[in-house]
Amino acid sequence: MISKRLQDAINAQINKELFSEYLYLSMAAYFESVNLPGFANFMKMQVLEERFHAMKFFEYLAERGGRVYLEQINKPEIEFSSIIEIFEKSYKHEQFISKSIYELMDIAIEEKDHATKSFLNWYVDEQVEEEATMDAILNKLKMIDGKGQGILMMDNELAQRAFTPPTNN
Ligand code: FEO
Repeated sequence: MISKRLQDAINAQINKELFSEYLYLSMAAYFESVNLPGFANFMKMQVLEERFHAMKFFEYLAERGGRVYLEQINKPEIEFSSIIEIFEKSYKHEQFISKSIYELMDIAIEEKDHATKSFLNWYVDEQVEEEATMDAILNKLKMIDGKGQGILMMDNELAQRAFTPPTNN
């Protein structure tokens, strides 16, 4: 059985993952509105990733005899001034999520909950990828100054992104 303290912390993390889903969905809506379907597709795939992250915590908590309590999801930003701004915010958001996962890990260590520590290792690794993905796109955008022909090339590239849930987890 999982401790009440960890249960509360995991519930808070579920809310953050669901907010992430909502934030990226809002960014997808923005990209649709400015006729960049490839960027919109990238964000829609990110939405699926975030739902997967939330549901992985959901299932884990249930498996450990805990209780999932859903809270209100905050309203995401809906207007953005540039594509670069969106990816700066996405990168910052992923850094915030990584910090939150580390804090969860600190609690699991303090509670001597080895099962949760092992479970959280997946998220620690996943966050390395999450930050790197956003940072790589941000760097490319900066190279082309966030405009011009390069944006259309990136849009074509990002149209290819698909989401396949990991099978070994
Ligand atoms: Fe669920 Fe993008 O971290």
